[in-house]
Amino acid sequence: MQYNFDEIVTRRGTNSIKWDNDNARDCLPLWVADMDFRVAEPIRKALAAHVQHGIFGYAHIPDAYYEAVINWFARRHNWHINREHILCTNGIVPALSAILQAMTDPQGTMALPTPAYNCFFESPASAGRKLALAPMKAVDNHYEIDWDVLENQLRGAQMTILCNPHNPTGRVWTRAELMRFNELCNRYNVFVMADEIHNGLAFPGHDYTPYATVATGTNWCACTSCTKSFNIAGLPIANIIIPDSRIREKIARAVFTNRIGDITALSLEALIAAYDHSEDWLDQARMYIYNNYLFMADFFANHLPLLHLMKMEGTYLAWVDVRNTGMTATGFCTRLAAEQHVLFNAGKMYGDDNYVRINMACPRATLAEALNRLRLFLQ
Ligand SMILES: Cc1ncc(COP(=O)(O)O)c(C=O)c1O
Repeated sequence: MQYNFDEIVTRRGTNSIKWDNDNARDCLPLWVADMDFRVAEPIRKALAAHVQHGIFGYAHIPDAYYEAVINWFARRHNWHINREHILCTNGIVPALSAILQAMTDPQGTMALPTPAYNCFFESPASAGRKLALAPMKAVDNHYEIDWDVLENQLRGAQMTILCNPHNPTGRVWTRAELMRFNELCNRYNVFVMADEIHNGLAFPGHDYTPYATVATGTNWCACTSCTKSFNIAGLPIANIIIPDSRIREKIARAVFTNRIGDITALSLEALIAAYDHSEDWLDQARMYIYNNYLFMADFFANHLPLLHLMKMEGTYLAWVDVRNTGMTATGFCTRLAAEQHVLFNAGKMYGDDNYVRINMACPRATLAEALNRLRLFLQ
C-alpha cells in the first residue's frame, strides 16, 4: 500500500505533549520525539477491531507476539532471538530503571557516552547512581566515541548504555565500533544495556547492526521496541533481550517488583500488526524522513550559514550546532519559540547546550514552514 506522508493531520486537541502546549495556535512543534504521520493501516485496523469489541481487560502475552518479535529481527536484521531470552515491559525507560536496580549497587556508577537521551541522565540520578560521563568527539561532521575517555570512565563503572542508533546525534554505529565497545566493556566487566529503540530508522547506506550480533560474552542486554519506528509511542511496549539466565533472573525480578511487565492488549496488538503487516509503511516512512533530511541539509547549506547540521545516518532527530549565533541552545530555543513560534529541544538536557535537536518526522510542508521561520529568526 502507498501511504501519503505529505498529509497534514491535525493533532491539536488530542492531549498530545508535542502539540497541546500553551504556545501560540500557529506554533510548529518540532521537538518531542513522535511523528506527525498517521500509523500504518494494519495497526489502525487491529486497534479499531479491539475498540469495536469494547472490552479492555487485562491481557496476557500470546505466542503470536513472540513470533512477531523473533521473525522481525531475523528477517530484517539477521538477529536470531531465542524466545526464552525475551522479557516484555511497558517501555524502555521503565526497563532502564529495573536494569539499574538489578545490575548496579545503590551507590554504583553508570558510564554514559554523551550527548545522550535525557532519561539516561535522569533515571540513574533519581535512583541515586553516580554518572561517569564520556563526552564523544565531533569529528568530520559526525560524532565518534572518544575511546580513551570511555575507557577511563568504564574503569569504575558497573553499567553503561549504548544507544544504537543514537539519539540525539543520528549516528548508526558500525560493526567495528560496536565490536570495540563490546571489547572495552568486557575488559572492565561493565554491563551493557544496548538501547535499540531507533533500530528501524537507519538511512540508506547505513545498516543498523544489533549489538547482539557482535557481543561476545553475556554481560549485556538489548532493549528493543517498535514504538519509535512505527509511531506508536503512546502505546508503550518494549522487550529486553537477555541471553544470560542468571542476569535474566535478576532483571526479571526487578521488572516484577516494579510491576512494569503488565502490557495493555492494545499495545500487544499494535506491535503484532506493526511487525507482521506494516513493513511497507516503515520503509516508506524511513525514505520520507531521509528525504526530509536531504531537504533540510540543502536548506541549511543555502540559507542558514550560522548553523551547522550534523550528518545524519538514521533516526528522525537532527542535531544542530548553534554556537555561531552567539546564543546558547536554551537561549536560542526560547527566543525562537517567542518570536517565530517554532519549538526545538535545547541540547542542555542531552548534555550539550551548544546544540538543538530538531524532530523532522513531519510532512515536508511543515518542515519547510519551520525552516523558513528559522531563517527569518536569524535574519
Ligand atoms: C533512546 C531512547 N530510549 C528510550 C526512549 C523512550 O522509550 P519508552 O517510551 O519505551 O520508555 C526514547 C524516546 O525518545 C529514546 O529516544
